[in-house]
Amino acid sequence: MSLEHRHSPSDGPVNLVRQLELTDREYQTIAEFVHKASGINLLDGKKELVRARLIKRINQLEFRDFKSYFRFVTTDASGDELVFLLDALATNLTSFFREPQHFEFMSKTFLPELEKRRRRPGGGGPRLRIWSAACSSGEEPYTIAMVVMEKNHYFASGGDFRILATDLSTKVLNIAKKGQYGPESVKSINPTTLKSFMVKTPTERGHAIYAIVPQIRNLISFRRFNLMDPLPYKGPMDLIFCRNVMIYFDRETIGRLIEKFYKILEVGGYLFIGHSESLSGLSHDFQYVAPCIYRKVAK
Ligand SMILES: C[S@@+](CC[C@H](N)C(=O)[O-])C[C@H]1O[C@@H](n2cnc3c(N)ncnc32)[C@H](O)[C@@H]1O
Repeated sequence: MSLEHRHSPSDGPVNLVRQLELTDREYQTIAEFVHKASGINLLDGKKELVRARLIKRINQLEFRDFKSYFRFVTTDASGDELVFLLDALATNLTSFFREPQHFEFMSKTFLPELEKRRRRPGGGGPRLRIWSAACSSGEEPYTIAMVVMEKNHYFASGGDFRILATDLSTKVLNIAKKGQYGPESVKSINPTTLKSFMVKTPTERGHAIYAIVPQIRNLISFRRFNLMDPLPYKGPMDLIFCRNVMIYFDRETIGRLIEKFYKILEVGGYLFIGHSESLSGLSHDFQYVAPCIYRKVAK
């Protein structure tokens, strides 16, 4: 361990920042443990990332080195430190209307199809269930809700529509539940949609906070769920969004995961995956529809 001396900008008291060494062996052990716990693969050259993201926590808890911190994580019976560790290592980047082709597909193809498919002779509207399976700080499920409410009168006027939004990280789920975003985050929402579904409140510092309206917020149940675990949800789901998370998983893990998705999807339902992810080379029963869009068809 070395101590690096840093002066504060005001040239006030000297801060001591401990620069801990992460050995290859410790890195390997942490990476294998994280892979088993979450499916996240940190093994390919992510040593610096692991070190940088954990060092603050180790210093905060005043552990001597990575080894003793790791021992603490693996013996902490509450499981809280494991949650913290996975929170620190997961990449949570997301945005409203990210990969817009999925939302266009929803409004132009999926929603009209759903109406036809479920139109019953004696009346009664369709039921819609959507799962955002790695929802991060909420931009994805809120976007889904906005698209449905904007395009479909039946659901906008109280039709049976719910979104389940899950993530491994409690940190991002807390942001999602709050449903408040800064001006930078809402730039990708068109002005009409923004006006319909978010309330702008000026802050004391002259900035603004945009809050999701209750009409949208109340459609979504946010839950912590690890995609490695057996599904506690029965479904059936009409749509599953699992975007930009499988990229961190190995092929075997992805194979197991899409099998679970297939089971819980309604026949005719769709699975959306991220733009740099693919199911090619995996054995599955989905029908390929378009890049990053797969469908469960009747057998
Ligand atoms: C890059 S974000 C993607 C967010 C959103 N789906 C999108 O495309 O914008 C990846 C999310 O996956 C979550 N994640 C990683 N491993 C997970 C696991 N095993 N189970 C559930 N969520 C996981 C992370 O916490 C993170 O919030």
